[in-house]
Amino acid sequence: MLALSERIRFLEKNVFADMDRAKTEIINRGEKIIDLSLGSADLPTAKHIIETIEKSLHNPENHRYLLHGGTAEFRKVVASWYQKRFGNFVDWETEVLPLIGSQEGTAHFPLAVINPGDYALTLDPGYPSHAGGVYLAGGQVYAMPLLEENNFLPQFAHIPEAVLAKAKLMILSYPHNPTTAIAPRSFFEEAVAFCKKHNLILVHDFPYMDIYFGEERPVSVLEVDKNKEISIEFFTFSKSYNMGGFRIGFAIGNSQLIAALRKIKSIVDFNQYRGILQGAITALTSSQQCVAETVRIYRERRDFLVSELAKIGWQVPLPPATLYVWAKLLPPWQQNSIQYCVELLKETGVALSPGAGFGKHGEGYVRFALVQPPEILAEAVAKIALFHQKTC
Ligand SMILES: Cc1ncc(COP(=O)(O)O)c(C=O)c1O
Repeated sequence: MLALSERIRFLEKNVFADMDRAKTEIINRGEKIIDLSLGSADLPTAKHIIETIEKSLHNPENHRYLLHGGTAEFRKVVASWYQKRFGNFVDWETEVLPLIGSQEGTAHFPLAVINPGDYALTLDPGYPSHAGGVYLAGGQVYAMPLLEENNFLPQFAHIPEAVLAKAKLMILSYPHNPTTAIAPRSFFEEAVAFCKKHNLILVHDFPYMDIYFGEERPVSVLEVDKNKEISIEFFTFSKSYNMGGFRIGFAIGNSQLIAALRKIKSIVDFNQYRGILQGAITALTSSQQCVAETVRIYRERRDFLVSELAKIGWQVPLPPATLYVWAKLLPPWQQNSIQYCVELLKETGVALSPGAGFGKHGEGYVRFALVQPPEILAEAVAKIALFHQKTC
């Protein structure tokens, strides 16, 4: 055995690896999988965005390293986009940073602010790169439980004083993956006040800002922390524009935090390919009809899946946002989401995400990703019904 780093140990406990192994076995047997386990959109990137990227390929200017100054146009577009959309001024020179996806940004950010042993407060269940980035930076994670009775919002009053004394950072993300919860403005007001009181830096990962289905518009943390005193927010093109494979996002926030993250990234990467940045500029500056169409499709799938599940006796709440359905497991599976998902996959070829993979408080749930059309969702539910007849 070679001697690997201590930090690798934290990354080994990945339950999604069990699912991947089971998926590979089935695929190798030549059998079909209905994969509802990943939030990777099946919908195409809009034609006008693809055309911009395609054109960029033929310009040799775009074949070089893209150093920091070369992203000025992107940063200007992002700053004015934010200002138009959320009504708050953003300085393109000091408050915007392009990213190779929000995951890259949120995973690298703790390296800029965490010293070994410092605590970060994260959401449980939550997105794996949030805690993962803290571990990579040598920090400790205090996972704030998200319970249904609290609308999947953390209760700040329950954080132990000893943790707060060593805490440096809070990481939030609403609309929330995997619970689908939206946080109201009053929650962000409480979070900003709490972080200011305890000298915490506030990260908000905001990939589902467009994917919501009701009247309640998701709140940007910078609408509340207007002067960007303590906050940094992470955005992506993966969900709104179906550009997950292109790897493009950005951060907006406090200029010191942006500069610190830029320093970390200057060691790690040379920015995203210029043509993809140009595609992203086209996305933000063109008609938003493609986003509305994506939301319409997810809404249709959400309604369809929830009603099909109800027909087989699985009552799940209608998600207010995101491209997921968060479903409480039926007896006897309530405390065994990993085994449920592995056995369901082996028996039926339907892949879901086990709630426990998102943290201890995700146990008892599974997550469906709405990344297949209704006819495939119907097929998946029919297979689940047979599995439940045998096992529930
Ligand atoms: C909360 C959260 N953050 C980040 C990401 C990844 O975004 P990106 O594709 O920009 O890295 C996801 C994707 O599912 C997510 O749910």
